[in-house]
Amino acid sequence: MEIEEKVQKVKAITQSWRAQGHKVAFVPTMGALHEGHLALVKKAREVADKTVVSIFVNPTQFAPHEDFASYPRTLEKDLEKLKAHSVDLVFVPTENEIYPYGNATWVDVEDYPAKGLEAFFRPHHFKGVATVVTKLFMIVKPDIAIFGEKDAQQLAVVNRIVKDLFLDIEIIPHPVVRENNGLALSSRNSYLSEQEKQKACALYEILKTTAKTLEAEKNFEKARAQAWLKAAEYSYLAIEYIEIVDPITFKPLHGNIYDSTYSCFAVIAAKIGSTRLIDALRIGG
Ligand code: PAF
Repeated sequence: MEIEEKVQKVKAITQSWRAQGHKVAFVPTMGALHEGHLALVKKAREVADKTVVSIFVNPTQFAPHEDFASYPRTLEKDLEKLKAHSVDLVFVPTENEIYPYGNATWVDVEDYPAKGLEAFFRPHHFKGVATVVTKLFMIVKPDIAIFGEKDAQQLAVVNRIVKDLFLDIEIIPHPVVRENNGLALSSRNSYLSEQEKQKACALYEILKTTAKTLEAEKNFEKARAQAWLKAAEYSYLAIEYIEIVDPITFKPLHGNIYDSTYSCFAVIAAKIGSTRLIDALRIGG
């Protein structure tokens, strides 16, 4: 497994792979790797000849009051895990490598799906994500990139960038990987105490109730109302949003479902103590 810090080195390696006719899959991460990330890596290995993983805690997607400084950094352990999963190349750039002095170009999705929900509570987040993901795409130039569905709005934003910028990259979404109690795996779960981890399965319970109601009633308002009723059972959750959205536009859905092939996401963000968690559940096709 090669480990590289430099943009030019990564470009040269992936360029030589492409010249040899290899298909390259890419998994961007911020490290603190867990089984959710490793599932993305396994998928990458299935669909391509070469797998690249990046580990970069991207400062531009955090607001000043957020957890950039305390975000878990476990590089040695991460590298061991990636080696055990036969990753070909790990890109571990410094901040200066990605944002050299004088960097002045940003990628900003100005409309849905980068509006509302996460964007409302974290106004500059998607500009940071869009910029770093585009930079990483330009460096690695993968044929395929794998993104988890837990960050469903991020997935929609990435799909929008690929479409709008005519990037020849296939984005493969991967289902959320969960603990036995339903808690979605996340690097931020390390902020939770054991007791909070038990409590945090409430997010998934609310999403499941939303899905069940939607499947039974075929009406978004009824499903949304039932979701909030369920949420009221968990007084320790400080809910930021619960929504049912179109998976591409991320606009909230309304009215009745007439089409049996519908597909949507139920999404939630909530705080337990000082830890902010998000989750998403795909409903329908
Ligand atoms: O999902 C993440 O871990 C990050 O937002 C990403 C895509 C690696 C960009 O920094």
